[in-house]
Amino acid sequence: MHTKVDKALSGFIDQLFSQHRRSAFPGPRGGMIVSDPKTADAILRAPDQFQKTFKLLELLGKSRFGTNGDEWQARRELTHRNYLKAGMAQNRERVAEVYRRRLADCESTEPAAISRALLAASTEIFHDAFGCTVAIEPMLDFFDHARVMLKQLQYFSMMPPDPSELEALERHARSLLRQYVVETERSPTLSAVLESWQSQTRIDDFNAADEFMMNFFAATESSSSTLSTAINRLGVHQAAQERLAAEVTAGENFAQLECFINETLRCYPPIPFVVRQVASETEIEGLPLKAGNVIIISIIGIHRHSGYWKDPELFDPARVEFVEDAYDRRAFIPFGKGLRTCGGTRLARLELAEGLKAFIRQFVVTHESDELSFEYSLAMRPKSWEGMRIARR
Ligand code: HEM
Repeated sequence: MHTKVDKALSGFIDQLFSQHRRSAFPGPRGGMIVSDPKTADAILRAPDQFQKTFKLLELLGKSRFGTNGDEWQARRELTHRNYLKAGMAQNRERVAEVYRRRLADCESTEPAAISRALLAASTEIFHDAFGCTVAIEPMLDFFDHARVMLKQLQYFSMMPPDPSELEALERHARSLLRQYVVETERSPTLSAVLESWQSQTRIDDFNAADEFMMNFFAATESSSSTLSTAINRLGVHQAAQERLAAEVTAGENFAQLECFINETLRCYPPIPFVVRQVASETEIEGLPLKAGNVIIISIIGIHRHSGYWKDPELFDPARVEFVEDAYDRRAFIPFGKGLRTCGGTRLARLELAEGLKAFIRQFVVTHESDELSFEYSLAMRPKSWEGMRIARR
């Protein structure tokens, strides 16, 4: 089962990497895939006509990610101020300290261990934003478990399950949610946050643990995956690694580092696509759409559109469009766009910068080949570490 799911999801991501030259084409379940920046921009800016949908992922509980309108607004209110505060410049040193410590304490220099340390740092920082302290290792073990389920739910959102498969998924989801509640009960500070959410929220069937868990997944998976991908690319681009090391040591401005992060997000956006559902009959690029049709916006496709990027396939650590700040904002949307843009963009940016600085200060990395493939659950993570070597400086 795992292999079938992994293969299908990787196959879909490969399709997005290979089909980006066309601006709109048919997608799974009667929907369409869009990779034209202008068209995608128009869709993302019309959240009432093109609504968010989370499909089977909602078996893991309802959350802001799959709701719209007033309910979405009420759910967003729960985290909005925490994310803004956590993303402020005043929090930079705290974020830097967590990455520095987690990487310094990492007992092994195996890429998988470094990747886990990055996820641990992001998990600590996420809970910090709510004033919560949790035991990190059990949370990461739980997340490893959950990732298997998330992959299955993504898969069955594309390939509808038969009734017995659906029943098995529902059972598995319920058991996972129970496991999460047990994890939250270990932490008095997290329990207190959940109790206050539960008592202050006026939404039918609201479950604070479900809401918190989905936020936790979204926040930590994409930041740590991006850092793992960036480290992988540093291994390939040795000259860039040296330039970045000099820049980080000088500690004055971090323009090259920012450029490297942007190029990582452009070539390998951790959220490779976003999904919308058509609210009422309409058309896009001449293709008619009915209410309920699904639109997949390929962030990969938009980021590699040849009308907007020079040599779009090339990973260029010093890409001129970023260096000169001369690119069309519609063609670079790693954090989404419009009302439903990423709720944690500023914190994510802090984490990417401070996480990569901490890595560069402590380690050097080499990679034998340019090859990079991904596994996909909620975000794209490098699939294999073969050929990659990390050593302490
Ligand atoms: C490199 C890191 C990250 C990337 C690339 C990223 C990307 C995205 C994208 C593309 C979306 C939009 C999904 C859509 O339009 O359907 C999104 C949504 C979201 N992200 Fe992030 N994200 C990152 C990190 C974070 C962090 C650190 C947090 C929280 C601390 C966070 C919280 C959220 C939330 C709450 C939403 C849902 C917004 C809504 O209610 O519609 N993300 N993210």
